[in-house]
Amino acid sequence: MKVLVTGGCGFIGSNYIRYIIKKRPKYKIFNIDKLTYAGNLENLKDLKNKKNYKFIRADITNARIMGQIFKKFMPDAVINFAAETHVDRSILSPSSFIKTNFLGVGILLNLSLKFSVQRFIQISTDEVYGSILNGKFTEESPISPSSPYSASKAAADHLVLSYYKTYKLPVLITRSSNNYGPYQFPEKLIPLVIHNALNNKKIPVYGDGRNVRDWLYVEDNCRAIDLIFQKGRSGEIYNIGGEQELTNIDVVKMILKTLKRDFSLICFVKDRPGHDRRYALSINKIKKEIGWSPSVTFSQGIKKTINWYLRNKVWFQHVEKGTYRKFYKKYYSKLGLKQF
Ligand SMILES: NC(=O)c1ccc[n+]([C@@H]2O[C@H](COP(=O)([O-])OP(=O)(O)OC[C@H]3O[C@@H](n4cnc5c(N)ncnc54)[C@H](O)[C@@H]3O)[C@@H](O)[C@H]2O)c1
Repeated sequence: MKVLVTGGCGFIGSNYIRYIIKKRPKYKIFNIDKLTYAGNLENLKDLKNKKNYKFIRADITNARIMGQIFKKFMPDAVINFAAETHVDRSILSPSSFIKTNFLGVGILLNLSLKFSVQRFIQISTDEVYGSILNGKFTEESPISPSSPYSASKAAADHLVLSYYKTYKLPVLITRSSNNYGPYQFPEKLIPLVIHNALNNKKIPVYGDGRNVRDWLYVEDNCRAIDLIFQKGRSGEIYNIGGEQELTNIDVVKMILKTLKRDFSLICFVKDRPGHDRRYALSINKIKKEIGWSPSVTFSQGIKKTINWYLRNKVWFQHVEKGTYRKFYKKYYSKLGLKQF
């Protein structure tokens, strides 16, 4: 089985590739990544010499280059993780989100059709449903995205499903809740809190900090994606949730407590425009049809995650040398946090 994985140098993609190389050694993995600020070759440096793994630097929005890649490697399956993923960045400049998250998916779909790909998995997000104060979203719930990021992902979901309805391309969509774990770029809540706490820097928390997210340990997500790949029905959407709902402020306090840092590092800042209050997923479908359920609780997962970051301070330092510092200097100064 030849699997073309896009965005494999990012957070979830790199965890998935490491998981799948071990779990299914007969698979050949072609990792296509543009290496944006979020893509990091260091995330997979241990796989560099594996015979069944190959990295190719390319942009999924470049139809010509992607066409050459499909022609050369003739993949049996495509799993698309490649995306612009940070909501704050999508608010500041949405264009690259529209280009990669929608146009890029269109290019992958056209090529998958042309080269008769047998499985196309689009990695989507719970954010496409928008906010829900009570109850949970099922796969049948209408989508109602709030940010340019989630809107670009929602638009891609429609496009992906249209290729099933119109051309019978065997597509599947996964919509997972917030992932956390090793190799996550420190602009997202959990690695940001760990990073700032370790460096005794202020931790910005939006609004009143009571926004609720459902947390999924990344390895549980990788296992779900693999099982959906094996057993999922074409044309279907599968929610993947951790069943671990927490407010942002509780997450921040748990990390500070574990790292023995003072709560005075917490700094409430003006709320993000269009900030969804609560995300919650029903995962009955994946439990029943696929036989998957989350195996790592938040208190277990956060300990593993913090320990990983403590053991990999060099990874943090290298990431910081990139565009991280520049972006955050500008961004935090907008929030009035000049010390960044
Ligand atoms: N992180 C989460 O909590 C979460 C939750 C639900 C869904 N998702 C989805 O999972 C996927 C992966 O998320 P992540 O957190 O690992 O993201 P990430 O930002 O860590 O990684 C994205 C990767 O895609 C690459 N990329 C970006 N634009 C590209 C392009 N035009 N061509 C080729 N490669 C490109 C980047 O270089 C990077 O390696 C995304 O599609 C995201 O929408 C993420």
